[in-house]
Amino acid sequence: MSFDRSIKIAPSILSADFAALGAEIHAVEAQGADWIHVDPMDGHFVPNLTIGPNVVAAIRPHVKTFMDVHLMISPADPYIGDFAKAGSDLITVHAEAGPHLHRSLQSVRAEGCKAGVALNMTTPLDHVSDILDDIDMILIMTINPGFGGQKFTHAMVDKVARCRAMVGDRPIHIQVDGGIDPNTAPLVASAGADVLVAGSAVFRGGSVDAPQVYGDNIRAIREAAEGAL
Ligand code: DX5
Ligand code: ZN
Repeated sequence: MSFDRSIKIAPSILSADFAALGAEIHAVEAQGADWIHVDPMDGHFVPNLTIGPNVVAAIRPHVKTFMDVHLMISPADPYIGDFAKAGSDLITVHAEAGPHLHRSLQSVRAEGCKAGVALNMTTPLDHVSDILDDIDMILIMTINPGFGGQKFTHAMVDKVARCRAMVGDRPIHIQVDGGIDPNTAPLVASAGADVLVAGSAVFRGGSVDAPQVYGDNIRAIREAAEGAL
């Protein structure tokens, strides 16, 4: 995948019908999704339990775009190999999830995946400023991780702008996750985010039997974001 800063919409399947993940992925991709965002949670790093490597492997053949796996697990290191073998294209580890972030990123790249770092809202950009050459994406959390459907945190817009300035010309994506919808997408896009994760704002009102709603939702987010550039 060549690097570009165009707006990419990454539906989070956390808000999809878990009994029909394959069909849900086909539906959002057919309706314009650029990436598929997957949210493993361990009930320890965050207060919720979701999916593990077996489910990621099961959905892999259904993802025709790009599988973006946001690990909310601690420690992450023992499971990086499993999530890579499950077919992740990009694996994001949280900066707060272990004592040696750089080692975790090296493991991700050694497995042949792109490497992302997620920063919780209270974690400063300094945590990654000295290792930018080892990072393919920075995820600025705009909620506390753990659940979909939370309210966007406006104070993070300035953090996105500072992250964009820090990244400069480097080929590093800036992703935002949490409370992204047509109202908040323009704020983060104009601040410099290029990958917009959206769960509830994509899946709301639609289903595999009414997939055009997903298309309308994705288009509304994309047009709002691109309109701000
Ligand atoms: C939450 C996850 C998100 C979540 C976003 O910890 O990382 O990806 O699905 O959901 P919305 O878009 O509903 O805030
Ligand atoms: Zn996520």
